[in-house]
Amino acid sequence: MAYVHVIANQKGGVGKTTVTVNLAAVTTDVLSGGSRQSPVLVVSTDPQASSVWWADRVEGLPFDFTQYDGDPEQLARLRELDQYQHVFVDTPGSLEDEHILAAALAGADDVIVPMPPEPLAFDPTARTIAHVLVPRQLPYRVVINAWDPRDGEADLDQTRDYIEAQQWPVSKVVVRRYKVHTRAAADGRVVTQYPKNRTSMEAREDFFRLALELGYGGKAGR
Ligand SMILES: Nc1ncnc2c1ncn2[C@@H]1O[C@H](COP(=O)(O)OP(=O)(O)O)[C@@H](O)[C@H]1O
Ligand SMILES: [Mg+2]
Repeated sequence: MAYVHVIANQKGGVGKTTVTVNLAAVTTDVLSGGSRQSPVLVVSTDPQASSVWWADRVEGLPFDFTQYDGDPEQLARLRELDQYQHVFVDTPGSLEDEHILAAALAGADDVIVPMPPEPLAFDPTARTIAHVLVPRQLPYRVVINAWDPRDGEADLDQTRDYIEAQQWPVSKVVVRRYKVHTRAAADGRVVTQYPKNRTSMEAREDFFRLALELGYGGKAGR
């Protein structure tokens, strides 16, 4: 059985696609052991298809990739895909597409909620959690994404305080903002294919650390 992680936040631009693709890449890197069959599948359900655009540009995409065909059954049955250990489902960032998100959540084992350390993201994130995730009793975890250390700790602290006040589960690992992440789709790279310079390695490390915290490196046993 595959473990199905849905990446969701009904606010656009928070990093759903970035987190989906790069968590899939590091998880594949650790689990594939050089075998030809990828242990990881990414499913794009976003009509805006930014992960499709990205995947299309990557030479030697390390994981399998597919697009939602519009049949909710496809999403409901992802965990039956025995050839995969982890399935990562990228979802739309708009309220109009809530039916697509609902279809994805119907097949989810857990949910990752990326959120930038910006007050503007607080209310939309709270809406997704309160209206969409909690009623379904799905385990979820907020991941603070795109924090720029050069901006100082104030925004990060304020975001952590807000999350704590909401009593949301949150990852300890914070994904920092790096230009190399922003450019990755246009450059046709996933995080494990970044150039081997120090800054890119730092950027890459955040996703390996996050995958380690989330437990993706071990057996996907349940
Ligand atoms: N950690 C990060 N560092 C740098 N840029 C990021 C980071 N996370 C996201 N971005 C950029 O922010 C924009 C929105 O991210 P994206 O993953 O497309 O969000 P969503 O899928 O939620 O709409 C993209 O241009 C992306 O490259
Ligand atoms: Mg997206």
